[in-house]
Amino acid sequence: GTDSALAAARPIPFGSAAEIDTFRKDARYREALKRYCDVIVPMNDLKWEALRHDRPRFDFSGADELVAFAEANRKVLRGHTLLWGEALPNWAREMTTRAEAERELVNHIEIVVDRYKGRIATWDVVNEVIKYDPTEGGPWRDTIWQRLLGPEHVDIAFRTAARVDPKARLVLNDFHFEEPVPGAAARRKVALDICRRLKDKGIPVHGVGMQAHLYADKGIDVDGLQRFMRDLDELGLDVEITELDVIDWKLPADAAKRDKTAAALVSTFLDAVVSAKRPKAIVTWGLTDRYSWVHETFPRKDSARARPLPLDADYRQKPMMAVLERYR
Ligand code: XIL
Repeated sequence: GTDSALAAARPIPFGSAAEIDTFRKDARYREALKRYCDVIVPMNDLKWEALRHDRPRFDFSGADELVAFAEANRKVLRGHTLLWGEALPNWAREMTTRAEAERELVNHIEIVVDRYKGRIATWDVVNEVIKYDPTEGGPWRDTIWQRLLGPEHVDIAFRTAARVDPKARLVLNDFHFEEPVPGAAARRKVALDICRRLKDKGIPVHGVGMQAHLYADKGIDVDGLQRFMRDLDELGLDVEITELDVIDWKLPADAAKRDKTAAALVSTFLDAVVSAKRPKAIVTWGLTDRYSWVHETFPRKDSARARPLPLDADYRQKPMMAVLERYR
């Protein structure tokens, strides 16, 4: 790829989420994780749905397998996620009282963070707690945690994680910060407000994770992102790119053209961020177009397949990989 003046000498750790079933069945997937990643994130295996299917018993089998792989191959781990309104077992969705929600949340975070203490360096402590469009009466996403605990659910999560692993980096992770629309600007403000409030209360928070599921048909608010980076910096917060991929469902089928558009979009996004503030990590939500949540969540109307990631379905490097390589 072309050298970017913005890609400074110091590399930014690169990584990917890893999905356990794919990891188990596809040796090429494991090889790609080894070859390309400095950072690995269990894609689903640290979510409540996976860990807490049976209420009394924690099932760490999938997470342990991915953590062992990461450690054996000297990869840094990110933990995703301690609190989310989705991927919950039924029993958690059906909680009814404040006391029960607080007890379960604290107990869960104590057990999970303690198990991987000193091994999972960074936690997405809370995921998607911001309302989709805070301009429509925000700021909180309507989840079981918000309903039972109010805004304090975020305080409890961060406070508990910090108490159990004081050395862990604690991140607020969310999406839709980058689009040139008022809703995205409002989301950036809410993220800053939440972090400022945590800091005012003496509760540790170290950074904001931008999922960066980029819509190819929507574009990037470069100025808004750069301002966001400066505001985070002023608050003493890091930024990380945590779930990068390209949602190309609205683009015409031509694969080569889509790959070019995706690479240009990722380049615009990363250059906007990096020119204002160096992210602590750049993490994609998978590596190969063979496997991606985009296929199910953003199905195309034609028979073409989504091309969201830096490797194609046969593990060949796409133009997006050249863009990512500029920062490594
Ligand atoms: C997705 C996974 O990729 C899928 O395998 C799973 O079925 C659903 O969750 N934002 C997030 C991620 O924070 O946890 C989601 O991951 C994608 C959207």
